[in-house]
Amino acid sequence: MTVDLRPFTGDDIALLLSWVGSSSAMRLWAGDAFRWPLDEAQLAAYLAETRTPGRRSWTTWDGRGQAVGHASLRVDFPARSGRLGRVLIAPQARRRGLAGEMLRQVLEVAFGDVGLRRLELGVYSDNVAAVRLYERMGFVADDQPGADECRQRVVHMTLDAQ
Ligand SMILES: CC(C)(COP(=O)(O)OP(=O)(O)OC[C@H]1O[C@@H](n2cnc3c(N)ncnc32)[C@H](O)[C@@H]1OP(=O)(O)O)[C@@H](O)C(=O)NCCC(=O)NCCS
Repeated sequence: MTVDLRPFTGDDIALLLSWVGSSSAMRLWAGDAFRWPLDEAQLAAYLAETRTPGRRSWTTWDGRGQAVGHASLRVDFPARSGRLGRVLIAPQARRRGLAGEMLRQVLEVAFGDVGLRRLELGVYSDNVAAVRLYERMGFVADDQPGADECRQRVVHMTLDAQ
């Protein structure tokens, strides 16, 4: 299924709140970036950051006009590197391959328009769906044992521009 990426807007805040329904879901999604309970004020601050040159974030829509996901890119322009994060598919839309299509388009923007040379990310080692997704997109895990965050192992992965 094809998906369409559109810049994250204030209208999408309610979607994120409906998709992230528990503190554990929030941590899986965004690590320690937000405090539980997730609320409009924190997401409004995230939106404001998204409107600076250092970050781009998108809501993902499916071909039937349903919002189905979210992803974000933090950009370090001098280094031409970026960090992929806040990757999420709506709970009711998972396991249909939408995340792969969403990330394919995010990578196209990152290595195309934005001109990055390297992308990195961090993912909890026991988040099987996310680790498999990133591996399928070509990300490679570091050899180093990952850092621990909130007593969970974080795997650091990178992908270089072709
Ligand atoms: C990770 C996430 C984005 C994947 O979205 P999705 O649209 O369901 O992913 P896909 O359908 O493309 O599946 C990705 C891979 O994971 C596998 N997978 C998906 N859900 C799984 C599950 N619950 N258990 C085991 N494997 C799973 C799929 O089989 C697929 O593997 P394959 O490439 O070997 O076929 C989604 O599960 C999600 O939003 N999770 C919560 C937030 C999160 O963890 N974000 C990542 C932060 S680093």
